[in-house]
Amino acid sequence: MRKVSVMLKEAAMKALVYHGPGRKAWEDVPDARVRDDTDAVVRVETVTICGTDLHILKGDVPEVADGRILGHEAVGTVVSVGDGVKTIKPGDRVLVSCISACGHCRFCREGRFGQCLGGGGWILGYMIDGTQAEYVRTPFADTSLYKIPAGVSDEEILMLADILPTSYEVGVLNGRVAPGDTVAIVGAGPIGLSAILSARMFSPGHVIAIDLADARLEAAKSFGADLTVNNGRVDAVEFVREVTDGLGADVAIEAVGVPPTFELCTELVRPGGRVANIGVHGHPATLHLESLWIKDITITTGLVDTYSTPTLLKLVAAHQIEAARFVTHRFALGEIEEAYEVFAGAADTGAIKVVMSQA
Ligand SMILES: NC(=O)c1ccc[n+]([C@@H]2O[C@H](COP(=O)([O-])OP(=O)(O)OC[C@H]3O[C@@H](n4cnc5c(N)ncnc54)[C@H](O)[C@@H]3O)[C@@H](O)[C@H]2O)c1
Ligand SMILES: [Zn+2]
Ligand SMILES: [Zn+2]
Repeated sequence: MRKVSVMLKEAAMKALVYHGPGRKAWEDVPDARVRDDTDAVVRVETVTICGTDLHILKGDVPEVADGRILGHEAVGTVVSVGDGVKTIKPGDRVLVSCISACGHCRFCREGRFGQCLGGGGWILGYMIDGTQAEYVRTPFADTSLYKIPAGVSDEEILMLADILPTSYEVGVLNGRVAPGDTVAIVGAGPIGLSAILSARMFSPGHVIAIDLADARLEAAKSFGADLTVNNGRVDAVEFVREVTDGLGADVAIEAVGVPPTFELCTELVRPGGRVANIGVHGHPATLHLESLWIKDITITTGLVDTYSTPTLLKLVAAHQIEAARFVTHRFALGEIEEAYEVFAGAADTGAIKVVMSQA
C-alpha cells in the first residue's frame, strides 16, 4: 500500500491585532475554534469600536498583551459549539456582549456578571481574543450569548453589546433616576448620549448634558437633553444651580473618565443626591470630603454587569429605544483600520459609533 502524507495547513482568518501601544494591524491569524466544551465560535457579521479600545491602543490598559485581537462587541451567527453547550446552536443569530458569565460563581448567581470569578467578566479583546475579526471564540456560550429576536437589525442589537447596558446600569439605575429629577450628565460621547436615552425612560424633569465639544452637545440635544452646557465657556455648577433653585442636580452621571469631571459631578449634585460614575479612570481624583461629608451624597462606581440586557433587548425590539441612531459611519470589515481613524477623530468626523460589516 502506498503511504500518503498530507500536510495540514492551519486555516487562517483576518483579525485586528494589537501589537503594543500605538500599533495594530489587520492581519492573518489562526482560525477561531472551540477550545473548551462550553465555547461557541461566532461568525462576526457586525462589529464596532469602543472608546476603551482607543484606551488600549494608547497603552492605558497594560494587561492587554501583544498579539491580542481587539474588540468586545459584535453581532453574528454561531458556526460551531462545544459538546457542553446546550441552548445555543449553530445557525443562531446572537449578540456577543462585552461581558461573559460563567453562570456558576458567587457573583454570577447575583447577576453581577462583570465581577465573575469563574473566568468570565470583561475578557473579550482584553484577556482573550476579541470580536474585531472574521470569527470569534466566545466562552460560556449558554450564559453569555443572547439570541436575537426577529425584526431587529444587527446594528440596533450591536448597541446592546456595551453602551446601552453600561449607561443604563452604571449611570441611570445606580444613580436611581426618578420622575421629575434633574439629571446632569457630564460627557456626551456614546456612553453619555446613551445615558440621556435611558434616563428619559424615567421621565426626568431636566436632562442637562455637559461637554466641551459643541458637536457633542448638538448630538445630546437630538438624543433628548433639554439643556446643554459647554463647560469650556460656561460655569456648569452655576448653570445647574440656576435651573434647580440653587440646590443642584438630583443625579450627576460621570461619563468621561478624568479627575476634573468626577470632581465636577460632586459639585453639581444637591444635598442627598447621587453621583454615578461610569468613566474608566486612569488617575486618582480628589474626593472633597471636607465639603461633601455633610451633604448626604451617595457615590456609586461600577463595571457594567449586563444584567439588564434582556430588558433592553425587549425595548429595542419594541422600538422604545432607537438604538440605530448611534451609528454615524459604516465600513466593510476589511476597512477597520480606516474606521479606527474616523472613530478616533470624532471631534472632526462627528463619529458616535462606527460599524463594520461582513457580508
Ligand atoms: N464602567 C463601565 O463599565 C464602562 C463601560 C464602557 C465605557 N466606559 C467609560 O465611559 C467613559 C465614556 O465613554 P465614551 O465612549 O462615551 O467616551 P468618549 O471619549 O467618546 O466621550 C467622552 C466625552 O467627554 C467629553 N469631555 C472630555 N473632557 C471633558 C471635560 N473636562 N468636561 C466635559 N466633557 C468632557 C468629550 O468631549 C467627549 O464628548 C470612558 O471613560 C469609557 O472608558 C465605562
Ligand atoms: Zn466597551
Ligand atoms: Zn461567574
